[in-house]
Amino acid sequence: MTKIKKIAVFTSGGDSPGMNSAIRAVVRTALAHNLEVMGINRGYQGMIENDFVKMKSKSVRNIIQRGGTILRTARSEEFKTPAGRKKAYTNLKKHGINAAVVIGGDGSFKGAGIFSQEYDIPFVGMPGTIDNDMFGTDYTIGFDTALNTVTEAIDKIKDTAFSHDRTFFIEVMGRDAGFIALKAGIATGAEMVLIPEVEGQEEKLEELLKSSEKNSNIIIVAEGNNIGGASEVAKKFGTKYKSHGIRVNILGHMQRGGSPSAFDRYLASRLGVAAVDALIDNQRSVMVGYSNHEVVLVPFNKTIKGKRDVGEELLRVNEILSK
Ligand code: F6P
Repeated sequence: MTKIKKIAVFTSGGDSPGMNSAIRAVVRTALAHNLEVMGINRGYQGMIENDFVKMKSKSVRNIIQRGGTILRTARSEEFKTPAGRKKAYTNLKKHGINAAVVIGGDGSFKGAGIFSQEYDIPFVGMPGTIDNDMFGTDYTIGFDTALNTVTEAIDKIKDTAFSHDRTFFIEVMGRDAGFIALKAGIATGAEMVLIPEVEGQEEKLEELLKSSEKNSNIIIVAEGNNIGGASEVAKKFGTKYKSHGIRVNILGHMQRGGSPSAFDRYLASRLGVAAVDALIDNQRSVMVGYSNHEVVLVPFNKTIKGKRDVGEELLRVNEILSK
């Protein structure tokens, strides 16, 4: 029998499409188990500042399709301090909360893991980030939508690139990971992708520019790659390869917004149910992930320490098809 009577749910770190679908699933599953639910606004910062709101079934009506997060989000520096976490605990206790679901990336899980070691409140995590860089899950909530947004944008740029025989450097998000860039590269038929996981891409880029002077090129630049951002790369090669008519596009935060794809809504819904089930099952400090089409539980320390790689096979596929 679970001792949990009241849970909290909040979103933390960078927002991602599907976070609302995740909140909805957590709230409705908790209510189905006769648990009370509080939402916390602005993640850990709201926990510290006592920004709690009661959630009913109606509170999550008509949000499954909305981008962003109705609870809003933040990256809290204060929660990194013992004093900040103490304030957060006092507020959780004040509201009678026995357990919490955090929707965010590995930084958010790290905070939850530390907190649960210090205080007796179990946390379960749901992976919410567009970067898809979390160990232990094949997909994070928001990645599929971001990938579709990027694909649509690049398709449009490709039209004008082709018409003018120009080379475009298109920067996409992915601070430490090249998932968006690589998969968008395959999906749009880009000539090259520059990603953090691959060293020494400068020579290959030079080769491509040398050999394709009269063609248009789409080069997708993951922001964390080893040469530099799209503007830097363009600056480096722009003077030497003037005939390419090099242009830069930084897609930026449009990648984080928009209505979630059907897959992200489905993923968030399944993981939301699993997250509450896990808490009722007395699980703590675990992430609910999705691996080989099954819901899995992965300890926080594994998701934080583990490195999820783009994998040799995707690189090979891209290499063959981009020629
Ligand atoms: O981690 C998600 C992410 O979108 C990264 O790809 C990007 O580097 C970062 O967040 C940007 O974050 P912000 O603009 O919120 O500081």
